[in-house]
Amino acid sequence: MISNKVMLEAAEKFGTPLFLYDIDKIRECYNSLFKFIPYKGLKIHYALKANYNIAILKALRDIGCGLDTVSPGEVALALQLGFKKEDIIYTANNMTDAEFAEVAATGVVMNIGELSRLEKTARNYPGSRICLRFNPDVKDGDNEKTMTAGDLTKFGILLDDVEKVVEIVRKGDLHVVGLHEHTGSGLQKAESVYQSMKNLMNIVTKERFPELEFLDFGGGFKVPYMPDEKRIDYVVMGREIVSIFEDFCKKYGRDLKMYFEPGKYMVAEAGHLLVEVNTIKKNRSRIIAGCNSGFPQLIRPVMYGAYHHIVNLSNPDGELQKYDICGNICETGDRFAEERMMPEIREYDILEIQNAGAYCYSMGGVYNLRPMPSEAVYADGELKLVRKAQSNAELASEIIASAL
Ligand code: LLP
Repeated sequence: MISNKVMLEAAEKFGTPLFLYDIDKIRECYNSLFKFIPYKGLKIHYALKANYNIAILKALRDIGCGLDTVSPGEVALALQLGFKKEDIIYTANNMTDAEFAEVAATGVVMNIGELSRLEKTARNYPGSRICLRFNPDVKDGDNEKTMTAGDLTKFGILLDDVEKVVEIVRKGDLHVVGLHEHTGSGLQKAESVYQSMKNLMNIVTKERFPELEFLDFGGGFKVPYMPDEKRIDYVVMGREIVSIFEDFCKKYGRDLKMYFEPGKYMVAEAGHLLVEVNTIKKNRSRIIAGCNSGFPQLIRPVMYGAYHHIVNLSNPDGELQKYDICGNICETGDRFAEERMMPEIREYDILEIQNAGAYCYSMGGVYNLRPMPSEAVYADGELKLVRKAQSNAELASEIIASAL
């Protein structure tokens, strides 16, 4: 855990806004999964979309973690960083023929989630080794937008279509080595994980899929975002997962590998966005604390109404008051928190926005032409800057230089 003192030191040393990542915590999260899910064929593919910081990826590569990728760009980054193609899965949706060809040429396993793409694969790439993504038909997630199963999602092949799948696979002499499902992000109930696993397993027989090497149950493991939020009992959940899987393997007649591809679980809590308050303003009933970041740098509150806990590192014992914590973007909705009880916030105070490791920097942009913040890591007791923010002049030059 990074102490408040170290965070203030990082803000002082590297300036704000600053993303600070705790690499030890990320390693700990990865290792914890092997304790919680005691199955010898367990393999973890970190969902790279959650955070593509190079220091994080190198640390994960060095401890043997694989990657779940969703675009040719992510595949290229993974390969250039030295991840082996056997340790990468490609789960894109609505891919173009050109994207398919680009990734197929790398030898990374393609996870296919539409009958139409499966037909094209059978036609154009007969004999390929593939994985198939099914819609597990269980609705769960921390937000409507991040639920990826059920009637309203664009993801996965319907379980009811399994016979059609088998026919296309036979026609194209495809080798189905894996089956996949992903229920959603921030799964609220452990039962949803079990039910999705079972729904996928229910369509599997040795006759339909004789060449399976693994089943992949996606990501979605929840971490608390609110201070008093209950943590899922991962020991109990892991035991149940193993028991369900072992029963399945017995019926299938062979021990398969079990894959999970968590993003939030691996990196959310390890990330901290440090911002500085530059303006305190009373606006009738509201006190506004204006800071030097904004929603393009951490969009989850605006996009999903997500709660991110905020700590006033500079004045932790100040008198409690309600604040709207706003950014520096020209939109009224540019708020990290609304009517949030906080110890008194003063100009030049440093605030820590918690759980900023997953889907914050990676969903960021330079709206209003504010460069994305620098990124630093804390590892083995040391602070290190790993990416320096562009200056305003550099950002402007890049825009001008990119014009044809
Ligand atoms: N596997 C697949 C196929 C996925 O689509 C995702 C996330 C994951 C794994 C990892 O899910 P996780 O373990 O991180 O929950 N931007 C949203 C989350 C979007 C998740 C997209 N897919 C957010 O900030 O809440």
